[in-house]
This record gives sequence, structure tokens and C-alpha cells, in this order.
Amino acid sequence: MLLLRKDQTMATPHINAEMGDFAPAVLMPGDPKRAERIAHMLMDDAKLVTDVRGMLGFTGTVNGRPLSVMGSGMGQPSATIYATELYRWFGVERIIRVGTCGGISPKVKVGDVVVALGAHTDSAMNTLRIPGVHFSAVASFKLASAAVAAAKEADNVHVGTIISRDHFYLPVEGQVQKLADYGVLGVEMEAAAMYGVAAEFGKEALTVLTVSDHLLDGSADMTAEERETKFRGALDLAVAAAFV
Ligand code: ADE
Repeated sequence: MLLLRKDQTMATPHINAEMGDFAPAVLMPGDPKRAERIAHMLMDDAKLVTDVRGMLGFTGTVNGRPLSVMGSGMGQPSATIYATELYRWFGVERIIRVGTCGGISPKVKVGDVVVALGAHTDSAMNTLRIPGVHFSAVASFKLASAAVAAAKEADNVHVGTIISRDHFYLPVEGQVQKLADYGVLGVEMEAAAMYGVAAEFGKEALTVLTVSDHLLDGSADMTAEERETKFRGALDLAVAAAFV
């Protein structure tokens, strides 16, 4: 659904940019203010290209190569809207979600980084895609390989499955321990749907997460300051994937 604006340029319902305003690769944190911080951290020439509903998106260059950074909002419906519009109408080829997760596996500690190869989910979003099928929400192998190579076997970087849940607060009896038993590394709220959208459009997606809290090991949550400093490690892996 493209909308003709007064100035005769096109916009989508949730992105007021023009074709060509986005780079082929987009880093996508949940928080639009974090998108702004990342854009200015990585790029001297970052320009605001969209701000509908305060969901800020920026484009600039890193070592001469174009890159965009845009918020996804929280949850799978929100992330799906932005990923769909970027892939479908703005020529975006790859989206790398950069966010936080709650740790589930005992192997994962607060401050560690998770590269999400696949995302289980309790959401119905991907079950609607192919009738009668439990969709496998998986990352782009190429992007995941690039992120893992950039990690250089660092012992705080974990590669495996996560779960994208639709609830942040609702406790489901026994669920988290069972997920741990199945080796699930962490929980967040967007990746499974984003992998589904990438598959729908034949594009690439990856999720790189910093563990901000742990659901089972009783460790303290990250402070706001730690979130910013520790986040840099995950961001470097995401940038490596963006430019592979
Ligand atoms: N993101 C960071 N921590 C989380 C948690 N505990 N649950 C869901 N998403 C998260």
C-alpha cells in the first residue's frame, strides 16, 4: 500500500522515506533511540530518513559503504510491519536485528552475545504463512557465518537457537526450564517473525543479541551503562554480517 504524498513522492503507511533512502543492509534494534545512538556511533554522515510514529531510521556510510539503522519496536507484529515494508518497497536486502535477550541456557551469562541461528516461537505469526505447516524460522547462513567468523571463537559468543515469545510478563509453568533442557540460549520477542518475513521475500535476516538478564541463574540484570558498553560486541558482529 503505497501512498502518494503532497510532494508527489511515495511513502508506505509506516515509513515516510523514498525509494533509495535505505541502504541494502539495515541494522534493526527494537528501540528507535538506540537506532539513533547506533547510527551516530557508526557513522559520521548518518541522516534521518524516516520518523513515522517516532520509529526513527537513519542512513549513512561506514568506511564508504552504505548502511541504515532503524528501530523495529517491540514484539513480532511491530517488527513484521517494518521488515515487510523495508524488503518490499525500499530495496532492502538484509536486516540484522541487534537487541537484547534474557538468558535461558546455563551456558549463557549476562553480558554474553548470542547469534540466533533459529528461533522457536509461541506466536501464531509464522503458522499463518503455509497452511498446515510449522514454519522453521532460521537465519541466513551467509550472515550467520559472517557474524560467527567476526567473533573469532570468543568464548562469550554463543551460536544456536532462541525463542521469540509474544509475552514478556506471562509466566508459563515449566516452559523456561524445558527450553533450557532443549539447549535454547535465550528469549526475546522479534526474531522468529523477522526470519519469516525474510523467507517470504527471498531476502536475508540475522539476529545478534546481548544477554541483558538471565531467567534461571539468578544473576543481576545489566545496568543501563553495561547495556551500552557490552552492546558494542554484538554490534561489531552485526556490522560484519551487514557488509559480508
Ligand atoms: N529481552 C531482554 N530480556 C528479555 C526477557 N527476559 N524476555 C523477553 N525479552 C527480553
